[in-house]
Amino acid sequence: MSDTAYLNGEFLPLAEARIPVLDRGFIFGDGVYEVIPVYSRRPFRLPEHLRRLQRSLDAIRLGNPMTDSDWTRLVNDLVARHAGEDQSVYLQVTRGVAKRDHAFPSGAKPTVFMMSSPLVTPPREQVEQGVPCITATDYRWLKCDVKSVSLLANCLLRQLAAEAGAVEVVLFRDGCLTEASASNVFVVRNGKLLGPPKNHLILPGITYDVVLELAAAKGIAVELRAIPEQEVRSADELWVTSSSKEVLAVATLDGKAVGGGRPGPVFRTLHQAFQEFKRKVMRQAA
Ligand code: PDD
Repeated sequence: MSDTAYLNGEFLPLAEARIPVLDRGFIFGDGVYEVIPVYSRRPFRLPEHLRRLQRSLDAIRLGNPMTDSDWTRLVNDLVARHAGEDQSVYLQVTRGVAKRDHAFPSGAKPTVFMMSSPLVTPPREQVEQGVPCITATDYRWLKCDVKSVSLLANCLLRQLAAEAGAVEVVLFRDGCLTEASASNVFVVRNGKLLGPPKNHLILPGITYDVVLELAAAKGIAVELRAIPEQEVRSADELWVTSSSKEVLAVATLDGKAVGGGRPGPVFRTLHQAFQEFKRKVMRQAA
């Protein structure tokens, strides 16, 4: 099967998908996106992803070009056009094509683009050993809860991690943990799971919510509050979570071992719960 994309009402080979250079997504990064994991050909938590998409669209004052049932049909259609059991669906909506002017154009039609690639989750070795991360100052804007395609700061920060041979960059703003360049971050201290509260400084991760639900189900105490940098640096466990990383333990932070330098017991409980939950949800959907 060729790699099929969806652009403005039609399915076509990804390599043939084109947008005009005056698209505001290209000119201004004026658009929002979602990344939806697909397990066993079934989109995971699609209603929640569509709710977050609506939230992002509302935040940038862009009308949703489709209903949730249209999105659902299109996502499933795109998945059906790809061979893989586990996929990662990317969708993006921009404010469309217009003469370059910062203020919103009147009457522009939003550009809608979707593609699917194989879902790449962390290799077994990373799950078992944990991964290296570095830290940096979070200098992104103050609307990090919007899943905006304007990702220059995230790219610059992630590149620091790449150059340091690290998997993620954990970010601090005003002395407290926010998140990482493309994942949320959790801390374990004295058996308790700590997470930064959902506010304008972090993306409300779909995986973040799943982690909190599973922690509650497993009887793990949870506290959502501002987490000072020092509590992160002296954590027993540190995790990054996202749709592609799922739940992944951080083994070293800036070269220093986190806890025992290996994934800890709370991580192992939660990781196993996540894997079981994924399979259970997909069986129920079948
Ligand atoms: N990133 N925080 C940021 C800044 C992110 O970009 C992401 C996701 C997350 C985790 O959200 P979720 O659990 O819904 O995937 C947190 C996606 C995967 C990306 O940009 O590729």
